[in-house]
Amino acid sequence: MRNIYLDNAASTAMDERVIIEMMPYFRDEAGNPSSLHSNGKKAHEALEKARADIASCLNAEPDEIIFTSSGTESNNLATKGCAFANRKKGKHIIISQIEHECVTNSCTWLKEQGFDVTYLPVDSEGLINTGQLNDSIKPDTILVSIMHANNEIGVIEPVEAIGKICRERDIYFHTDACQSFGKIPFDVKKSNIDMATINAHKIYGPKGVGALYVRRGVNISAWQHGGGQESGIRSGTENVPGIVGFAKAAKLSIAEMFPEMNRLISLRDKIIDTILEQMPTAYLNGHRNIRIPNNVNIGFRDFEGQAPNLLTTLDAMGIAVSTGSACSSKKKSSHVLLAIGRNPVQAIGALRISMGRFTTESDVDYFLSVLPEVMKNMRSIFSRF
Ligand SMILES: Cc1ncc(COP(=O)(O)O)c(C=O)c1O
Repeated sequence: MRNIYLDNAASTAMDERVIIEMMPYFRDEAGNPSSLHSNGKKAHEALEKARADIASCLNAEPDEIIFTSSGTESNNLATKGCAFANRKKGKHIIISQIEHECVTNSCTWLKEQGFDVTYLPVDSEGLINTGQLNDSIKPDTILVSIMHANNEIGVIEPVEAIGKICRERDIYFHTDACQSFGKIPFDVKKSNIDMATINAHKIYGPKGVGALYVRRGVNISAWQHGGGQESGIRSGTENVPGIVGFAKAAKLSIAEMFPEMNRLISLRDKIIDTILEQMPTAYLNGHRNIRIPNNVNIGFRDFEGQAPNLLTTLDAMGIAVSTGSACSSKKKSSHVLLAIGRNPVQAIGALRISMGRFTTESDVDYFLSVLPEVMKNMRSIFSRF
């Protein structure tokens, strides 16, 4: 049986070059970067080199990078840390309706602590309206958090325009770039971004490593207290092998970005065009072109609510796809699909196909040859009930 992995938005396999880079830091160079002996100094040097490398991938300064354990932690730190540090200035936060759960749930908690949250809607293609953002800003708005690319439908939000509005109105702008970093150009200075979340496991690096870019001068409180690592903003001994791997993965992704973008766009468009052409009940979720190169999200009008069964059937044939995001895969309806106007049954899940560095054209062709047959068989089974 073939093993075709089309769920790279959930996580990616590690690149061999990243594993090689990490290996020494598990054993031979296993010092604590805060220790003063030579082993510690070597670990510290590796940590600071990784920090400088990640910073250069974002067009940031090394001291603006705070290492964390994940994208989830970085998003918690950005929203909660910024809200609490600036609560004397105001209590209003704006996020989009399609943020990842680690932003929406952090904001639910912030509401319980007395903050006021506006959920900015998106249009039927998943894009926010910058005019509406401008109108939602209140005198006590302290933070806008809008993701760069959405994890379910792949839509790319206009971060440059958002950054301009926020800078002009003197409001902090945080963006969750977990799905875009290393895949499409991303420049924190050009887009006037104050805080940005990135992680390693979406770019062929290890799981459990993330970073938060915090522009110099941004007022943010620590969320995890201890020995004062990471400029006192995130205490805890740094995951040196993971961070070294993160930096290598980031550098590789940036160096190889443009040819890889073109390759993935052609695979993505092949999937979208073939499915829409051959399967008349299929529809695309998210903007046709303003989407990351590796994301396809398709619903089927005659098959609503059946996406989880379709996933299981494809899985049994050696093809891994998703019905939405990995974190919310057990949930009933997708808040992202509801936000773009799908009904609650449609929002139970669509088929998310996300390609990556190791996806070949032959993988895509096999998937496209199998899908119509699988759907035909499933339709005949369900029509019997
Ligand atoms: C857009 C987005 N934000 C945040 C996260 C959470 O990142 P992590 O898995 O590193 O906690 C993910 C990963 O699923 C994501 O896709």
